[in-house]
Amino acid sequence: MTPAQIADIAARAYQHMTPWRADQIADTLARPISLLSHTEAAFVLGQVIVDEAEILALAADPDQQRNGQASRALARFHSDAQTRGATRVFLEVASRNTPAIAFYTRHGYQQTGLRKAYYPRASAPADDALIMSRALP
Ligand SMILES: CC(C)(COP(=O)(O)OP(=O)(O)OC[C@H]1O[C@@H](n2cnc3c(N)ncnc32)[C@H](O)[C@@H]1OP(=O)(O)O)[C@@H](O)C(=O)NCCC(=O)NCCS
Repeated sequence: MTPAQIADIAARAYQHMTPWRADQIADTLARPISLLSHTEAAFVLGQVIVDEAEILALAADPDQQRNGQASRALARFHSDAQTRGATRVFLEVASRNTPAIAFYTRHGYQQTGLRKAYYPRASAPADDALIMSRALP
């Protein structure tokens, strides 16, 4: 999956955060700590630093949501991160993003922190970020 394809999915899928642009994705992928795991219609972009993995962006094509694409991409990310030595995964998600919170909860993530007013919004108060994490088996 190319940076342009990832950016296209993100632009159509993201509703609660500013989607990543293709140039930002390409810059991130150039870093050796970065990790991209994907299916044909969903991606997880993250990084692994020593034993901690972090999910930076994740989305499924809106035309193909609720059919397991994101779950398969996340399972691949977990496996790939574990291969690189990760024992735990962290992420931040907007508190209003109930689909993503439900998705992560279904996959074993629990809230471990809160960042107040973390995501700025144009004409509304900034949204809080939940910090969620799970151990890798
Ligand atoms: C979060 C996201 C990737 C899930 O994609 P998906 O294709 O629905 O994921 P899957 O089909 O693999 O898993 C679906 C499961 O996730 C949860 N889920 C997904 N959307 C949901 C919704 N709108 N309401 C409640 N639960 C939801 C449910 O547990 C669901 O299982 P079910 O269909 O059996 O009820 C997708 O909603 C998305 O791309 N959102 C926009 C990008 C985003 O916000 N990313 C998170 C950034 S931190």
